[in-house]
Amino acid sequence: TSPAGTPGSGRSLEVLLDGLSRLEYRGYDSAGIALVRPDGAERLTTVKAAGKLDNLRTALDEAAPAPATAGIGHTRWATHGGPTTENAHPHRAGRLAVVHNGIIENFRSLRAEVEAAGRTLVSATDTEVVAHLLDLDFTARLADAGQDTDAVDPGSATTTLVESMRAVTARLEGTFALLAVTELAPGAIVAARRSSPLVIGLGEGENFLGSDVAAFVAFTARAAEVDDDQVLLLTADSVTVWDADGKVVTPREWEVSWDASAAVKGGYETFMDKEIHDQPTAVADTLLGRVNDRGELVLDEMRIDPSVLRSVDKIIVVACGTAAYAGHVAKYAIEHWCRIPVEIELAHEFRYRDPIVSEKTLTVAISQSGETMDTIQAIRHAREQGSRVLAIVNTYGSTIAREADAVLYTHAGPEVAVASTKAFLAQITACYLLGLYLAQLRGNKWPDEVADYLENLGQMPAKLERLLAEQEDMVRELGAQMADQTSFLFLGRHVGYPVALEGALKLKEVAYVHAEGFAAGELKHGPIALVEEGLPVFVIVPTPRRPVLHDKVISNIQEVRARGARTIVIAEEGDEAVTPFADTVIRIPATPTLMWPLLTVVPLQIFAAALAKAKGLDVDQPRNLAKSVTVE
Ligand code: G6P
Repeated sequence: TSPAGTPGSGRSLEVLLDGLSRLEYRGYDSAGIALVRPDGAERLTTVKAAGKLDNLRTALDEAAPAPATAGIGHTRWATHGGPTTENAHPHRAGRLAVVHNGIIENFRSLRAEVEAAGRTLVSATDTEVVAHLLDLDFTARLADAGQDTDAVDPGSATTTLVESMRAVTARLEGTFALLAVTELAPGAIVAARRSSPLVIGLGEGENFLGSDVAAFVAFTARAAEVDDDQVLLLTADSVTVWDADGKVVTPREWEVSWDASAAVKGGYETFMDKEIHDQPTAVADTLLGRVNDRGELVLDEMRIDPSVLRSVDKIIVVACGTAAYAGHVAKYAIEHWCRIPVEIELAHEFRYRDPIVSEKTLTVAISQSGETMDTIQAIRHAREQGSRVLAIVNTYGSTIAREADAVLYTHAGPEVAVASTKAFLAQITACYLLGLYLAQLRGNKWPDEVADYLENLGQMPAKLERLLAEQEDMVRELGAQMADQTSFLFLGRHVGYPVALEGALKLKEVAYVHAEGFAAGELKHGPIALVEEGLPVFVIVPTPRRPVLHDKVISNIQEVRARGARTIVIAEEGDEAVTPFADTVIRIPATPTLMWPLLTVVPLQIFAAALAKAKGLDVDQPRNLAKSVTVE
């Protein structure tokens, strides 16, 4: 979910709608806005709609609210309560309205409390409970100060709302980014944060809040951080931040370097198409500036002491979804290059199973958004056990980037489509850089092999360009042809295994088709029972320059083919051994085995997007998903 807010010149609605459309990737079950203005019959208006943002736009066209001096808005990914209009944010209580991101864990007891105070709740959300708590506290404080709510001056209403926000958030358990407006203080937004993302945008005569800089990137490039348990007050020309003790603090500012245009489709039909085509650049940008004149790898951002890195005896990679598959590739590469054991663990499993972590463990968190709550909790757990945390993150200033000991940024640019593509390639590239850096630092395989791999990495953007130019049309057509299939298998060995998993995930995510990825050797231990006449099976074949590996996979293709499968084989250019067993061959430029995932996954992304499009689905915003899952 994503809150956004702005007090300013009267164009609040325009700012909010732009911001919400850029934040829609965080959830799009429902959306809403609240607008406040100093006068008129209705000083606080809320408009909400179930479904995507366009439904809210339609509702706004009908409601035609008057221009406002401040507003808050929200796009939702449902946690408590289904995706209905009632459950959409903002939630009203008395004279105020609230939007919220996160989960309030103690909301049941708080709900009983507000109901006992005579309030009637109209939604099933935890947020509405907070709205009432805030309003109860706010009205009680005004009454204690002898203020008449109908005649209170906006200045004291603002101060009081700040006090109420501090008092109420102190009672909340769980995670939140909370924004509140009241008609009694029409030029102000009061906010607070714990664990859920929130950033400030600093403008001229207007200020902004958003769950990420995308919310205001069209209006200002000046951003400022919000830390946990801080309370904020925004007006058109001031931003005040208090820490947990009520002391005024100055938030750290930075300049957002992302071009707002990076978040538009640039001529492509969907963001996913655009982002697939951004991949050569994403890999090139992630490599940029990381090799010096002598061909050595320099990672300036590696702020973990080299002596600590030399003493690392285990690496644990924590991540979710596609990022976890990048971690899976990292395991193969880093173990091979550095001879350090690498475990890959889904972040949400990690901390609940008493993992073995020590000062000698390096925890690597991989995340596009830097806001995945499961991953945040995993790194917190790792740090508590004394592990250093290195983050591989795409979003500057995100929570994971800030909480980690060091950050290796992927430079994929903003990724908007829910199904990750270019961020995945950039994550794998960053994992290679990490592995090669550790190999260099620890003296393994240096200098020849490292230099050789770096050179091969440098050739990847050009190979990706060629792959897209030569194979895209054919793969798209294949995707369109197979739109009526209901089941797919993906097989791979070695680094082809995570590619198979990712290929299946892409298809599930965007095309809602049942798809499974397997390690090719595992097939005979069970999954082969699924194979029947006509079942499409993708097989990722390693280079024939690794004959042992290559020939094993050829045998696996024969095994499924003999049972009637339709085989779609991804193989290196010139590998003729696959031809007799393949119904379709997708050709990939030759590359060292460990770097094979960077190329082989691309046709699988294109295939999934094409199949989804042929089914008439919304490729960028698949049902039930959100790009950043900021709840555990
Ligand atoms: C969500 C998205 C996935 C993504 C995963 C991890 O589930 O739908 O596409 O791979 O989160 O996201 P992160 O931002 O941590 O890479």
